[in-house]
Amino acid sequence: MSETRISAVTGRRVWDSRGRPTVEAEVRLTGGAIGRAIAPAGASRGSHEAVDLRDGGVLLGGLGVEQAVHNLRDAIGQQLLGLDASDQAGVDAVLIALDGTPNKKRLGANALIAVSMAVLHAAAQAAGLLLWQYLSGGKPVRLPLPEIQIFGGGAHAGRRVDIQDFMVMPVGAISFDQALVMTAEVYRAAGQLMAADGRLAGVADEGGWWPLFASNEEALSCLVQAIENAGYTPGEQVAIALDVAASEFGSAAGYVLGLEHRQLDTDGLIELLLGWIERYPIVAVEDPLAEDDHDGMRRFTAAVGDRVQVIGDDYLVTDARRIAQAAERKSCNAALIKPNQVGTITETQAALEAAKAAGWRTIVSARSGESEDVTIVHLATGWDAGQLKVGSIARTERTAKWNEALRIEEALGPAARFAGRSVLSAADRSLV
Ligand code: PGA
Ligand code: ZN
Repeated sequence: MSETRISAVTGRRVWDSRGRPTVEAEVRLTGGAIGRAIAPAGASRGSHEAVDLRDGGVLLGGLGVEQAVHNLRDAIGQQLLGLDASDQAGVDAVLIALDGTPNKKRLGANALIAVSMAVLHAAAQAAGLLLWQYLSGGKPVRLPLPEIQIFGGGAHAGRRVDIQDFMVMPVGAISFDQALVMTAEVYRAAGQLMAADGRLAGVADEGGWWPLFASNEEALSCLVQAIENAGYTPGEQVAIALDVAASEFGSAAGYVLGLEHRQLDTDGLIELLLGWIERYPIVAVEDPLAEDDHDGMRRFTAAVGDRVQVIGDDYLVTDARRIAQAAERKSCNAALIKPNQVGTITETQAALEAAKAAGWRTIVSARSGESEDVTIVHLATGWDAGQLKVGSIARTERTAKWNEALRIEEALGPAARFAGRSVLSAADRSLV
């Protein structure tokens, strides 16, 4: 145990995939192990998320992280010295108490999640294990079924279309490796369709094609065409997932579809989405209604039943308490899990456990502002979350994650199990 005492903590400013500053934490242990991690950053954030500490002012658009880095080197570093890195819950409890605010705004959730993840990496290294192995505690795990973006929209594409993510889920794949091959074929086919119509205009924030469409639904029909052109049967081999991110264009008081110059109330938006589910092979819808529209979320979830996973992201913000409340209300049936929405690894795991306890599906997710950090892939696998959402299959901050999953699948060899289509059915969501 003396090998796993924290002997040094430092922080530094590094850069994310949008060219914005972010925080990297580095932790050293008495036995020589080192852990390092980078905080991601969201653009379409839930209002109940933990707060990233930004410097404000004019420099770097106010997004500077000098104060957050200072907190890592100073207050956080001092408090963590001598603590046992293999006691993640103990370390995180010290971080939570030191911050002392309900939303991590004093020290910054960016500083806290970076150091919490760095401690985890250091502890795994000290144990001589890969991070997913360390997290699994010897229990069987599966490679997650990926949700992969083909078109980016919403806040990630200048609001060019209202819906934020048009994604595929390669449900017919029998391995993670095959899932990526199938997705790459669909991505390529979609790019060819865009080019043929003179609509190829580069990529959005998470690597999906820029959505030069005349309506939100046109993106859906183009996606189905791309799946067919790639040689797959829509729904059978490759299904569709949407992130509506409805809080970005409305609230319980009303929704404004900017692209289509349409205003909808809750019933209208539910009807629109149910119509799409009828006409397209959609198996997952994230944040279909806004974060304050509990009744809308409940009615939508009841309407789709178990055939579509209704995922709370902005709605749940990786908060175990909000997840338990939503489970009681039956206002969704799956949880997106983003470590920086809550600020520590222990609270992230608590949110995941709360969702599993409710019988929900879980999806570990990246943010739109990302880096080479691949911690979430290990969380998704080691905790057997079942699903992983990272953005598209282009841009290195995205492929860094997919490629790490390939390494894990290879390391597992014949023992590797892939959470394919079964993860979407109620009967077999988890190994536990
Ligand atoms: P983000 O959005 O921009 O807040 O990371 C990603 C998402 O809504 O899933
Ligand atoms: Zn989302």
